[in-house]
Amino acid sequence: MVFDFGSIDQWISADVVGRRREVQEIVAALAAGRDLVLEGPPGTSKSTLLRAIVRASGVPFLMVEGSADLTPAKLIGYHNPAATLAHGYRPENFQPGPLTEAMQRGALLYIEEFNRVPDDTLNVLLGPLAERALVVPRVGVVRAAPDFRLVAAMNPFDNVGTLRVSQSILDRLCRLAIGYQSEEEERAIVRLRTGSANTWLVDAAVALARATREHPEVRMGSSVRGAIDLVLVAERLAPLRGVDLALADNAAKDVVLDAALLALSGRMVLVETAERPPEAIVRELWENLFYFLPRAARGHYVLDILNSVVAPPRARRRRPPRGPVVMPVRPDAERVSYPKPARTGCVPGAG
Ligand SMILES: Nc1ncnc2c1ncn2[C@@H]1O[C@H](COP(=O)(O)OP(=O)(O)OP(=O)(O)O)[C@@H](O)[C@H]1O
Ligand SMILES: [Mg+2]
Repeated sequence: MVFDFGSIDQWISADVVGRRREVQEIVAALAAGRDLVLEGPPGTSKSTLLRAIVRASGVPFLMVEGSADLTPAKLIGYHNPAATLAHGYRPENFQPGPLTEAMQRGALLYIEEFNRVPDDTLNVLLGPLAERALVVPRVGVVRAAPDFRLVAAMNPFDNVGTLRVSQSILDRLCRLAIGYQSEEEERAIVRLRTGSANTWLVDAAVALARATREHPEVRMGSSVRGAIDLVLVAERLAPLRGVDLALADNAAKDVVLDAALLALSGRMVLVETAERPPEAIVRELWENLFYFLPRAARGHYVLDILNSVVAPPRARRRRPPRGPVVMPVRPDAERVSYPKPARTGCVPGAG
């Protein structure tokens, strides 16, 4: 497998924000004849990176979605039952699965959700990874073409339906850990994927998605996918409500809240001790973003909210446990109450 780093970089920069170091490492591992596993939380660009590398390099590519239903036969292939009944086991009756096909064609086989694949199916990979050969019953030995590579992707934090991948498989793979990108890069991703020119909205969406990852009651927060969806939903919701998002006024912030509830609440996995539903946490983060910023920042689009994700302790203590929540905006100002009051003039100075 020969890669032209220069042209890959050129191609990839059009479709992938940042991640140059990771691209180089993946390309180097593949060029060195190694197979590898990409490990990171959902939405951290594992598939995007690999697709971009494949597109840029022109390597044949086969993709398999890992699941509990991925049987060895689905990966290796099977004899066509009707043809086998009529003519017996013949090589021409064999329908190769993605693994066999990738080995024969010298393609890159990408298996997503690797740790959802059952053990007996993963064990099928031992031969191809170590010996570059696979024994297929009634077909014989399939030898891998020199360019055959396997890239797996898995999410280490997702314990629902995932299995521990055996050490005998992991020992045959290089591993690249992939984390969340910087706030600046996530903003660029959201701009790229949504085409939105509304800086205020993009910045707010990224700030809210990132804040879900830092919240003490959240085990796993939203990926950049949540921020992308938030922007797309908000931009369609605003005209339905006759709101101009560009004004960044209270009505626009209300649109952001409803879009955030839609885009983020289902993407958060709460800690087991959490006593509130995810939408209450999204609402809290939204309040922090727009109403609990330091006074000096109010009225500006300062979105450095990671430092003020959790409401100041005094404000939290004063919040009554039930019923409409009354939140002080500043000691000498009117109070803002939720559920939301009429849109006009509810928050002096905000927006
Ligand atoms: N660095 C990036 N450049 C451009 N787009 C990105 C980047 N990172 C993520 N995205 C976008 O975010 C979304 C999620 O990315 P992707 O599907 O690559 O994540 P993943 O790591 O494969 O997630 P999963 O583990 O859930 O399969 C996609 O819409 C993708 O386009
Ligand atoms: Mg993926």
